[in-house]
Amino acid sequence: MRIADRMRGIDASGIRKAFELARRVEDPIDLSIGQPDYGPPDELVEDAAAALRSGFHRYSLTHGFDELRAEVRRHLRERKGIEPEEVMITSGVAGGILLSFLALLNPGDRVVIPDPYFVIYKHMCRLVGAEAVFLDTYPDFRITAERLDRAFGRRGARAVVLNNPSNPTGNLIGGDGLREIADLCGRRDALIISDEVYDFFAYDASHESTARHAADALVLGGHSKTFGIPGWRVGYAAGPAAVIREMVKLQQYSFVCAPSPLQRGVLRAYAVDMGGRLAAYRRKRDLVCAGLEGKYSFVRPGGAFYLFPEAPGGSGAAFVERALGRRLILVPGAVFSERDTHFRLSFAAPDEVLRRGIEALRELA
Ligand SMILES: Cc1ncc(COP(=O)(O)O)c(C=O)c1O
Repeated sequence: MRIADRMRGIDASGIRKAFELARRVEDPIDLSIGQPDYGPPDELVEDAAAALRSGFHRYSLTHGFDELRAEVRRHLRERKGIEPEEVMITSGVAGGILLSFLALLNPGDRVVIPDPYFVIYKHMCRLVGAEAVFLDTYPDFRITAERLDRAFGRRGARAVVLNNPSNPTGNLIGGDGLREIADLCGRRDALIISDEVYDFFAYDASHESTARHAADALVLGGHSKTFGIPGWRVGYAAGPAAVIREMVKLQQYSFVCAPSPLQRGVLRAYAVDMGGRLAAYRRKRDLVCAGLEGKYSFVRPGGAFYLFPEAPGGSGAAFVERALGRRLILVPGAVFSERDTHFRLSFAAPDEVLRRGIEALRELA
Protein backbone atom coordinates (compact mmCIF):
# COMPACT_ATOMS: atom_id res chain seq x y z
CA MET A 1 0.00 0.00 0.00
CA ARG A 2 1.26 3.48 -0.79
CA ILE A 3 2.24 5.50 2.29
CA ALA A 4 1.90 9.28 2.39
CA ASP A 5 5.07 11.29 1.74
CA ARG A 6 4.81 13.07 5.10
CA MET A 7 5.55 9.81 6.90
CA ARG A 8 9.06 9.75 5.46
CA GLY A 9 10.21 12.38 7.92
CA ILE A 10 8.59 10.69 10.90
CA ASP A 11 10.94 8.19 12.40
CA ALA A 12 10.31 6.14 15.54
CA SER A 13 13.41 3.96 15.20
CA GLY A 14 15.39 5.45 18.12
CA ILE A 15 12.77 4.72 20.74
CA ARG A 16 11.70 1.47 19.12
CA LYS A 17 15.25 0.20 19.14
CA ALA A 18 15.58 1.01 22.84
CA PHE A 19 12.39 -0.92 23.64
CA GLU A 20 13.34 -3.88 21.45
CA LEU A 21 16.73 -4.16 23.10
CA ALA A 22 15.07 -3.93 26.52
CA ARG A 23 12.74 -6.84 25.72
CA ARG A 24 15.70 -9.12 25.09
CA VAL A 25 17.21 -8.51 28.54
CA GLU A 26 16.32 -10.92 31.31
CA ASP A 27 15.68 -9.46 34.77
CA PRO A 28 16.46 -5.95 33.53
CA ILE A 29 17.32 -2.93 35.66
CA ASP A 30 14.92 -0.70 33.82
CA LEU A 31 15.66 3.01 34.12
CA SER A 32 14.10 3.88 30.77
CA ILE A 33 10.52 4.39 31.86
CA GLY A 34 8.77 7.73 31.31
CA GLN A 35 5.95 7.21 33.77
CA PRO A 36 5.71 7.16 37.57
CA ASP A 37 6.25 3.86 39.38
CA TYR A 38 3.11 4.45 41.46
CA GLY A 39 -0.52 3.88 40.53
CA PRO A 40 -3.44 6.25 41.03
CA PRO A 41 -4.99 7.24 44.36
CA ASP A 42 -7.88 4.89 45.26
CA GLU A 43 -10.54 7.57 44.93
CA LEU A 44 -9.71 8.05 41.24
CA VAL A 45 -10.07 4.33 40.50
CA GLU A 46 -13.32 4.18 42.51
CA ASP A 47 -14.76 7.16 40.63
CA ALA A 48 -13.74 5.79 37.23
CA ALA A 49 -15.24 2.38 38.09
CA ALA A 50 -18.41 4.04 39.40
CA ALA A 51 -18.65 6.04 36.17
CA LEU A 52 -18.41 2.85 34.12
CA ARG A 53 -21.08 1.16 36.25
CA SER A 54 -23.44 4.09 36.18
CA GLY A 55 -23.51 4.48 32.42
CA PHE A 56 -20.81 6.94 31.36
CA HIS A 57 -20.29 5.18 28.05
CA ARG A 58 -21.27 7.96 25.71
CA TYR A 59 -19.21 10.79 24.26
CA SER A 60 -18.71 13.77 26.51
CA LEU A 61 -18.98 17.24 25.02
CA THR A 62 -16.05 17.79 22.65
CA HIS A 63 -14.35 20.16 25.10
CA GLY A 64 -14.87 17.76 28.02
CA PHE A 65 -17.27 17.55 30.96
CA ASP A 66 -18.04 20.99 32.35
CA GLU A 67 -17.48 19.75 35.94
CA LEU A 68 -13.92 18.70 35.05
CA ARG A 69 -13.22 21.94 33.16
CA ALA A 70 -14.37 23.83 36.28
CA GLU A 71 -12.05 21.69 38.46
CA VAL A 72 -9.10 22.35 36.15
CA ARG A 73 -9.90 26.07 36.22
CA ARG A 74 -10.01 26.02 40.02
CA HIS A 75 -6.67 24.20 40.09
CA LEU A 76 -5.12 26.70 37.68
CA ARG A 77 -6.40 29.62 39.76
CA GLU A 78 -5.49 28.26 43.19
CA ARG A 79 -2.23 26.43 42.47
CA LYS A 80 -0.84 28.24 39.44
CA GLY A 81 -2.39 31.68 39.97
CA ILE A 82 -3.66 31.90 36.39
CA GLU A 83 -7.10 32.60 34.95
CA PRO A 84 -7.05 31.46 31.32
CA GLU A 85 -9.83 32.66 29.01
CA GLU A 86 -10.77 29.11 28.06
CA VAL A 87 -10.07 25.51 29.11
CA MET A 88 -10.65 22.25 27.25
CA ILE A 89 -10.05 18.61 28.18
CA THR A 90 -7.68 16.84 25.77
CA SER A 91 -6.60 13.25 25.19
CA GLY A 92 -3.52 13.72 27.33
CA VAL A 93 -0.94 16.43 26.78
CA ALA A 94 0.13 14.55 23.65
CA GLY A 95 -3.37 15.16 22.24
CA GLY A 96 -3.05 18.84 23.18
CA ILE A 97 0.31 19.10 21.40
CA LEU A 98 -1.12 17.70 18.17
CA LEU A 99 -4.22 19.95 18.26
CA SER A 100 -2.21 23.07 19.11
CA PHE A 101 0.37 22.52 16.37
CA LEU A 102 -2.40 21.96 13.81
CA ALA A 103 -4.33 25.01 15.00
CA LEU A 104 -1.41 27.43 15.31
CA LEU A 105 1.28 26.59 12.75
CA ASN A 106 1.37 27.10 9.01
CA PRO A 107 3.70 25.17 6.72
CA GLY A 108 7.08 26.92 6.76
CA ASP A 109 6.54 28.59 10.16
CA ARG A 110 9.64 28.54 12.31
CA VAL A 111 9.24 26.95 15.76
CA VAL A 112 12.00 27.21 18.33
CA ILE A 113 12.49 23.95 20.23
CA PRO A 114 15.10 23.92 23.02
CA ASP A 115 17.38 20.90 22.49
CA PRO A 116 17.29 18.38 24.28
CA TYR A 117 13.55 18.15 23.70
CA PHE A 118 10.57 15.86 24.23
CA VAL A 119 10.55 13.89 21.02
CA ILE A 120 6.92 14.52 20.00
CA TYR A 121 7.54 18.24 19.23
CA LYS A 122 10.00 17.57 16.44
CA HIS A 123 7.74 15.11 14.70
CA MET A 124 4.62 17.23 15.09
CA CYS A 125 6.54 20.06 13.40
CA ARG A 126 7.25 17.71 10.50
CA LEU A 127 3.61 16.65 10.37
CA VAL A 128 2.35 20.22 9.99
CA GLY A 129 5.25 21.25 7.71
CA ALA A 130 6.68 23.75 10.22
CA GLU A 131 10.43 24.26 10.49
CA ALA A 132 11.91 23.14 13.81
CA VAL A 133 14.67 25.55 14.89
CA PHE A 134 16.68 23.71 17.54
CA LEU A 135 18.12 25.82 20.31
CA ASP A 136 21.17 23.93 21.58
CA THR A 137 21.21 24.30 25.39
CA TYR A 138 24.25 22.09 26.14
CA PRO A 139 26.06 21.77 28.49
CA ASP A 140 23.94 23.34 31.28
CA PHE A 141 20.51 22.94 29.56
CA ARG A 142 19.38 26.38 30.74
CA ILE A 143 16.76 28.05 28.61
CA THR A 144 17.27 31.80 28.84
CA ALA A 145 15.83 34.80 27.02
CA GLU A 146 19.29 35.57 25.67
CA ARG A 147 19.70 32.11 24.15
CA LEU A 148 16.17 32.22 22.77
CA ASP A 149 16.79 35.58 21.17
CA ARG A 150 19.80 34.13 19.38
CA ALA A 151 17.68 31.23 18.13
CA PHE A 152 15.05 33.67 16.81
CA GLY A 153 17.81 35.41 14.85
CA ARG A 154 16.82 37.97 12.26
CA ARG A 155 14.01 35.82 10.90
CA GLY A 156 12.20 35.47 14.23
CA ALA A 157 9.82 32.57 14.88
CA ARG A 158 6.12 31.96 15.00
CA ALA A 159 6.28 29.95 18.23
CA VAL A 160 8.44 28.58 21.01
CA VAL A 161 7.80 25.28 22.76
CA LEU A 162 8.72 25.44 26.43
CA ASN A 163 8.74 22.24 28.43
CA ASN A 164 9.06 23.21 32.07
CA PRO A 165 10.25 21.16 33.92
CA SER A 166 11.93 19.37 31.05
CA ASN A 167 11.96 15.84 29.80
CA PRO A 168 14.78 14.72 29.45
CA THR A 169 17.01 17.23 31.31
CA GLY A 170 14.97 18.05 34.44
CA ASN A 171 15.72 21.74 33.85
CA LEU A 172 13.30 23.94 35.79
CA ILE A 173 12.89 27.54 34.62
CA GLY A 174 12.21 29.86 37.55
CA GLY A 175 9.94 32.92 37.71
CA ASP A 176 12.56 35.52 36.71
CA GLY A 177 13.69 33.45 33.76
CA LEU A 178 10.11 32.94 32.65
CA ARG A 179 9.37 36.66 32.88
CA GLU A 180 12.35 37.47 30.66
CA ILE A 181 11.34 34.78 28.17
CA ALA A 182 7.75 36.03 28.15
CA ASP A 183 8.90 39.64 27.59
CA LEU A 184 11.17 38.56 24.75
CA CYS A 185 8.44 36.49 23.08
CA GLY A 186 6.07 39.47 23.39
CA ARG A 187 8.62 41.77 21.73
CA ARG A 188 9.44 39.24 19.02
CA ASP A 189 5.77 38.35 18.45
CA ALA A 190 6.26 34.62 19.13
CA LEU A 191 3.58 32.42 20.68
CA ILE A 192 4.49 30.26 23.64
CA ILE A 193 3.26 26.69 23.81
CA SER A 194 4.01 25.69 27.39
CA ASP A 195 4.08 21.96 28.16
CA GLU A 196 3.69 21.75 31.93
CA VAL A 197 2.97 18.04 32.27
CA TYR A 198 5.68 17.71 34.97
CA ASP A 199 4.51 20.77 36.96
CA PHE A 200 3.97 18.71 40.10
CA PHE A 201 7.55 17.33 40.04
CA ALA A 202 9.50 20.44 41.12
CA TYR A 203 12.02 19.76 43.87
CA ASP A 204 13.95 22.84 44.95
CA ALA A 205 11.54 25.63 44.06
CA SER A 206 7.84 25.61 43.28
CA HIS A 207 6.85 25.43 39.65
CA GLU A 208 5.52 28.58 38.00
CA SER A 209 3.28 28.52 34.98
CA THR A 210 4.46 30.42 31.92
CA ALA A 211 0.98 31.95 31.78
CA ARG A 212 1.73 33.95 34.94
CA HIS A 213 4.08 35.99 32.82
CA ALA A 214 2.56 35.65 29.34
CA ALA A 215 -1.22 35.88 29.55
CA ASP A 216 -1.61 34.63 25.97
CA ALA A 217 0.59 31.53 26.41
CA LEU A 218 -1.08 28.24 25.63
CA VAL A 219 -0.65 25.94 28.63
CA LEU A 220 -0.80 22.17 28.16
CA GLY A 221 -1.12 20.18 31.35
CA GLY A 222 -2.31 16.85 32.51
CA HIS A 223 -2.85 14.07 34.96
CA SER A 224 -0.78 11.21 33.51
CA LYS A 225 2.36 11.80 35.53
CA THR A 226 1.10 13.44 38.73
CA PHE A 227 -1.62 10.93 39.46
CA GLY A 228 0.00 7.84 37.93
CA ILE A 229 -2.59 7.44 35.14
CA PRO A 230 -0.74 7.79 31.81
CA GLY A 231 -3.02 5.21 30.18
CA TRP A 232 -6.17 7.16 30.99
CA ARG A 233 -5.46 9.85 28.38
CA VAL A 234 -6.91 12.87 30.16
CA GLY A 235 -5.15 16.25 29.99
CA TYR A 236 -6.12 19.86 29.38
CA ALA A 237 -5.28 22.90 27.30
CA ALA A 238 -5.76 26.40 28.74
CA GLY A 239 -5.29 29.73 27.01
CA PRO A 240 -6.78 32.33 24.68
CA ALA A 241 -10.40 31.55 23.74
CA ALA A 242 -9.66 32.00 20.04
CA VAL A 243 -7.00 29.27 20.16
CA ILE A 244 -8.98 26.82 22.29
CA ARG A 245 -12.00 27.28 19.99
CA GLU A 246 -9.94 26.09 17.01
CA MET A 247 -8.48 23.20 18.99
CA VAL A 248 -11.98 22.09 20.04
CA LYS A 249 -13.02 22.20 16.38
CA LEU A 250 -10.11 19.89 15.50
CA GLN A 251 -10.82 17.61 18.46
CA GLN A 252 -14.36 17.17 17.13
CA TYR A 253 -12.90 15.76 13.90
CA SER A 254 -10.15 13.66 15.47
CA PHE A 255 -10.17 12.46 19.10
CA VAL A 256 -13.87 13.48 19.48
CA CYS A 257 -13.37 13.67 23.26
CA ALA A 258 -11.10 12.40 26.02
CA PRO A 259 -12.37 9.02 27.39
CA SER A 260 -15.54 9.99 29.24
CA PRO A 261 -15.55 7.54 32.20
CA LEU A 262 -11.92 8.46 32.87
CA GLN A 263 -12.74 12.17 32.79
CA ARG A 264 -15.16 11.36 35.65
CA GLY A 265 -12.31 9.48 37.33
CA VAL A 266 -10.08 12.56 37.62
CA LEU A 267 -12.79 14.84 39.00
CA ARG A 268 -11.53 14.48 42.59
CA ALA A 269 -7.84 14.35 41.66
CA TYR A 270 -6.97 17.87 42.73
CA ALA A 271 -8.38 17.29 46.21
CA VAL A 272 -5.94 14.40 46.83
CA ASP A 273 -2.80 15.24 48.81
CA MET A 274 0.12 14.03 46.66
CA GLY A 275 2.77 15.60 48.92
CA GLY A 276 4.12 12.19 50.03
CA ARG A 277 4.69 11.18 46.41
CA LEU A 278 6.52 14.40 45.66
CA ALA A 279 8.75 13.95 48.74
CA ALA A 280 9.52 10.37 47.67
CA TYR A 281 10.53 11.54 44.19
CA ARG A 282 12.74 14.28 45.65
CA ARG A 283 14.46 11.54 47.68
CA LYS A 284 14.86 9.42 44.54
CA ARG A 285 16.42 12.41 42.75
CA ASP A 286 18.83 12.88 45.68
CA LEU A 287 19.64 9.16 45.83
CA VAL A 288 20.57 8.99 42.14
CA CYS A 289 22.53 12.26 42.17
CA ALA A 290 24.51 11.22 45.25
CA GLY A 291 25.16 7.77 43.74
CA LEU A 292 26.54 9.13 40.46
CA GLU A 293 28.32 12.22 41.81
CA GLY A 294 31.97 12.22 40.82
CA LYS A 295 31.50 9.32 38.40
CA TYR A 296 29.37 11.07 35.77
CA SER A 297 29.03 14.60 34.55
CA PHE A 298 25.41 15.76 34.85
CA VAL A 299 23.26 18.73 35.79
CA ARG A 300 21.25 18.15 38.97
CA PRO A 301 17.62 18.12 37.83
CA GLY A 302 15.29 20.64 39.48
CA GLY A 303 12.17 18.87 38.24
CA ALA A 304 10.58 15.99 36.27
CA PHE A 305 12.07 12.54 36.98
CA TYR A 306 15.05 12.22 34.69
CA LEU A 307 18.81 12.65 34.74
CA PHE A 308 20.64 13.41 31.49
CA PRO A 309 24.34 12.63 32.06
CA GLU A 310 27.18 12.76 29.59
CA ALA A 311 27.97 9.34 28.18
CA PRO A 312 31.43 8.03 29.04
CA GLY A 313 33.22 7.51 25.73
CA GLY A 314 31.27 10.29 24.05
CA SER A 315 28.48 8.33 22.32
CA GLY A 316 25.10 7.95 24.03
CA ALA A 317 24.08 5.12 21.70
CA ALA A 318 27.30 3.15 22.28
CA PHE A 319 27.08 3.62 26.04
CA VAL A 320 23.45 2.46 26.16
CA GLU A 321 24.46 -0.71 24.27
CA ARG A 322 27.31 -1.28 26.71
CA ALA A 323 24.96 -0.80 29.69
CA LEU A 324 22.76 -3.60 28.35
CA GLY A 325 25.63 -5.97 29.12
CA ARG A 326 24.92 -5.16 32.78
CA ARG A 327 21.16 -5.63 32.20
CA LEU A 328 20.72 -1.88 32.57
CA ILE A 329 18.18 -0.19 30.32
CA LEU A 330 18.69 3.48 29.48
CA VAL A 331 17.66 5.68 26.56
CA PRO A 332 20.25 7.19 24.20
CA GLY A 333 20.33 10.99 24.23
CA ALA A 334 19.90 11.15 20.45
CA VAL A 335 16.22 10.18 20.93
CA PHE A 336 15.79 13.65 22.49
CA SER A 337 18.43 15.66 20.72
CA GLU A 338 20.30 16.48 17.57
CA ARG A 339 23.39 15.29 19.49
CA ASP A 340 24.37 11.80 20.63
CA THR A 341 26.58 12.62 23.59
CA HIS A 342 24.33 11.88 26.58
CA PHE A 343 21.86 9.31 27.88
CA ARG A 344 18.58 9.54 29.80
CA LEU A 345 17.99 7.77 33.05
CA SER A 346 14.54 7.80 34.64
CA PHE A 347 14.39 7.70 38.42
CA ALA A 348 10.67 6.92 38.37
CA ALA A 349 11.49 3.45 39.67
CA PRO A 350 11.41 1.61 43.00
CA ASP A 351 14.38 2.44 45.27
CA GLU A 352 15.66 -1.12 45.01
CA VAL A 353 15.88 -0.83 41.20
CA LEU A 354 17.55 2.57 41.54
CA ARG A 355 20.19 1.12 43.90
CA ARG A 356 20.96 -1.69 41.45
CA GLY A 357 21.08 0.84 38.62
CA ILE A 358 23.48 3.10 40.49
CA GLU A 359 25.76 0.17 41.24
CA ALA A 360 25.82 -0.91 37.59
CA LEU A 361 26.42 2.66 36.42
CA ARG A 362 29.29 3.16 38.86
CA GLU A 363 30.92 0.03 37.47
CA LEU A 364 30.38 1.23 33.91
CA ALA A 365 31.81 4.72 34.49
C1 LIG B 1 7.27 16.54 28.05
C2 LIG B 1 6.11 15.63 27.87
N1 LIG B 1 4.97 16.14 27.38
C3 LIG B 1 3.89 15.35 27.20
C4 LIG B 1 3.92 14.01 27.50
C5 LIG B 1 2.70 13.19 27.25
O1 LIG B 1 1.82 13.32 28.32
P1 LIG B 1 0.36 12.71 28.27
O2 LIG B 1 0.41 11.34 28.84
O3 LIG B 1 -0.47 13.65 29.12
O4 LIG B 1 -0.06 12.72 26.86
C6 LIG B 1 5.08 13.44 28.02
C7 LIG B 1 5.16 12.00 28.31
O5 LIG B 1 6.22 11.42 28.42
C8 LIG B 1 6.21 14.28 28.21
O6 LIG B 1 7.37 13.79 28.70
